[in-house]
Amino acid sequence: MTNAADMALSKTVSLQHFPSDFAWGTSTAAYQIEGGWDLDGKGPSIWDTFCHSKGRVFEGHTGDVACNSYQLWDEDLKCIQQLGLTHYRLSFSWPRLLPDGTTHFVNPKGVEYYNKVIDDLIANAVVPMVTLNHFDLPQALQDHGGWESPEIADIFDSYAQFCFKTFGDRVKFWITLNEPYVCAKLGYENGILAPGLKEPGTLLYLVGHNMLRAHSRAWHSYNAHFRGLQGGMVSIALNSDWAEPLDPGCSKDVAATQRYMDFTLGWFACPVFGTGDYPKSMRFRIEAKNLELGFTKGQRLPKFSEDEPKPLGTADFFALNYYTSRKVKDASSRPSELSFAGDQGTEAIIDPSWPVSGAYWLAVVPEGLRKLLKYIKETCNNPVIYITENGFSQIGPVKFEDIDRCQFYQDTLQQVSKAITDDGVNVKGYFAWSLLDNLEWSEGFSVRFGLFHVDFSSSELKRTIYRSGEEYAAVIKRYHTYT
Ligand code: NOJ
Repeated sequence: MTNAADMALSKTVSLQHFPSDFAWGTSTAAYQIEGGWDLDGKGPSIWDTFCHSKGRVFEGHTGDVACNSYQLWDEDLKCIQQLGLTHYRLSFSWPRLLPDGTTHFVNPKGVEYYNKVIDDLIANAVVPMVTLNHFDLPQALQDHGGWESPEIADIFDSYAQFCFKTFGDRVKFWITLNEPYVCAKLGYENGILAPGLKEPGTLLYLVGHNMLRAHSRAWHSYNAHFRGLQGGMVSIALNSDWAEPLDPGCSKDVAATQRYMDFTLGWFACPVFGTGDYPKSMRFRIEAKNLELGFTKGQRLPKFSEDEPKPLGTADFFALNYYTSRKVKDASSRPSELSFAGDQGTEAIIDPSWPVSGAYWLAVVPEGLRKLLKYIKETCNNPVIYITENGFSQIGPVKFEDIDRCQFYQDTLQQVSKAITDDGVNVKGYFAWSLLDNLEWSEGFSVRFGLFHVDFSSSELKRTIYRSGEEYAAVIKRYHTYT
């Protein structure tokens, strides 16, 4: 094991370069940290329902209390100050602001809470970046079809406009939706996330489409009615693995790898940053499968209507969540099956040489991030990029001296720095996931991503910094000039 002192993150990363206006942040999400699930007029979200249903989440964990950030915001603020963050990404709980999801009734306590959070951040020279919806759709909307219903686009637009109006004098970075890919695939294909539906190969495309419609509407509203006065930016946080062919000499694996990228990043990035439509390979493969599986032409993957605001150009920066990489093998000759993987005709594999951190899916591949950044530069028109999430998890006994996570941040930030200086990628900021240990969705509190540990066994929910938090603070101190 490397001696901790030899590998201090701040020292090694100092060999690299970061611009002085680089955004140094952490990210969180309302349902994962806030608790107060039914306090002060908050309505239920699909995550409240999901966690309250038996057998959905590890050992029956729920976000009823979580880190209790709703009542312990002052403690979170201390953590933010201790790290010296320049930016903080949080999400609004939609049903805390609008209990039934619509603007017919606004919950004043919810507005008060987020006003305080935003004002405190700004008073501490921390720039807020706000996600309007990070998985926790109001249950009342789910009861009317949720993301499957075409009406959700207008309803989301009204919610977004309400937020722009109420908070946009101070919030200048908006993310409409978090990881539509994950929400659609894990919520509607394999049911691991709320609302927990298992309808392989069908609903996910419809849900993804309505998310893009909702996002586009909100961006166009901001552009038309708020940008002039408020001067902020709006984007959508897209997650992607980096993929490489299992056998680079095998043309089928190479083609399969491109399909994997198309179905992951391209699914949402192409409509917004590329052609304005889904990738050709998606249209082609899904259409071919439709024929084989007895669907009619054009079914499953919807078309963007000519009569609606277009998705193309509806992002003022690229918000990227990167966690892991995969090796990809062609599986196009597998018997036809109605599923997302079947549509792709790929099989994704974790290279045995890659270490896996905590969460079973999280192979640690920092160099994948640099490659992905370059790919985005080349395929999405060289956008300004903020890495809105990236992190390393722990499971099992708590390790405060988390040297492996320190090493991870060291390696990752070096890759980001190289992407900026050597590859000319326009990366403007990095947000570590996460500020605090929190509810890792269906894995409950068993998987910990925080730079601060949270003692979930005591009612005080005490926050204690990990070694990696101290190292991250040292990096920020080194690069950021506080004025
Ligand atoms: C991305 C999601 O946005 C976040 O909510 C989640 O906790 C992290 N990935 C880690 O899985």
